[in-house]
Amino acid sequence: MSDKLRIITTDDGSHSIYHEELKETYHSFHGAFRETIHVYMLYGMDSWLMRNPTKRPIRIFEVGFGTGLTAWLTLVWAEQNQIPVLYHTIEPFPLSEEIYSRLNYIEQDHSIWHYHKYFKALHDAPWNEGVILSEYFNMKKENIKLEDAQLYPTDVVFFDAFAPKKQPDVWKKELLGNVVEVMNPGAVFTTYCAVGKLRRDLKDLALEVEILPGPLGKKEMTRAWKK
Ligand SMILES: C[S@@+](CC[C@H](N)C(=O)[O-])C[C@H]1O[C@@H](n2cnc3c(N)ncnc32)[C@H](O)[C@@H]1O
Repeated sequence: MSDKLRIITTDDGSHSIYHEELKETYHSFHGAFRETIHVYMLYGMDSWLMRNPTKRPIRIFEVGFGTGLTAWLTLVWAEQNQIPVLYHTIEPFPLSEEIYSRLNYIEQDHSIWHYHKYFKALHDAPWNEGVILSEYFNMKKENIKLEDAQLYPTDVVFFDAFAPKKQPDVWKKELLGNVVEVMNPGAVFTTYCAVGKLRRDLKDLALEVEILPGPLGKKEMTRAWKK
C-alpha cells in the first residue's frame, strides 16, 4: 500500500481512505457509504430525476473518482431505474489495485450484492476513453486534474474534491465557474461541502443555492440548481 494512503473503517462499517500527508479522509468519518447515498444519490440523482423525469441520457460529471464508491452507486442507480447515464469522472491520483481490491463497499447493502462485479470493472476500466460498463452506464474516467480537464455539457455535478481548507485551489471561483458554465439548464450541483464561501460563489455564478441537512454526523450540505 502507498505510504501516504491507509484504509480506515468509518462509523457505518464501510471503508474510506485516509491521506496521511493531507490529514484528510475521502469520506465522512461518520459513514462513507451512508454519506454517498445521502449527498449524491438522494439529494443528487433522485432529486434531479424528480425535476427532470423524462430527460435521457443523464450526463454526470464527478470531481474525484477516488474509491469509485460514488461511481458504483450511480451505476447501480442507473440499472435499477433503467435510465441511461453517461458518467464523466476525473482523478489525478488513482488508487492502486492493492488498495481498491480491499475496499468493502459491495458488502454494505446485500440488496445490491448482484452488482458487485461492476465495482472492480469501474476500477479496471481503461483511463481516458469511453467505456460501456453495463446496459445503462457508460463512463469516461480521466487521469487528470480539474484545473486541466475538458468539461462537457452536464446535468448532474458531483463535486467531491477534498475539503476547501485542505485543497483550496480546486474550489476557486474561477474553476467553479468553468463547471457551472457547462451545466445544462435545470442541472444540479451537489456536494458534501457546507462552507459559506462556496455558497456565496455559487450564488454569484447565478445558481439557486439550497442548504440541506447533511448525512448523519454533519449538520449541512450544499445543493445548487442552474436556472
Ligand atoms: C473526497 S475524495 C473523492 C471520493 C470519491 N468520490 C469516492 O467515491 O471515493 C477526493 C478525490 O479528489 C481527488 N483529487 C485531488 N486533487 C484533485 C484535482 N486537482 N482535481 C480533481 N480531483 C482531485 C483525490 O485524489 C481524491 O480521490
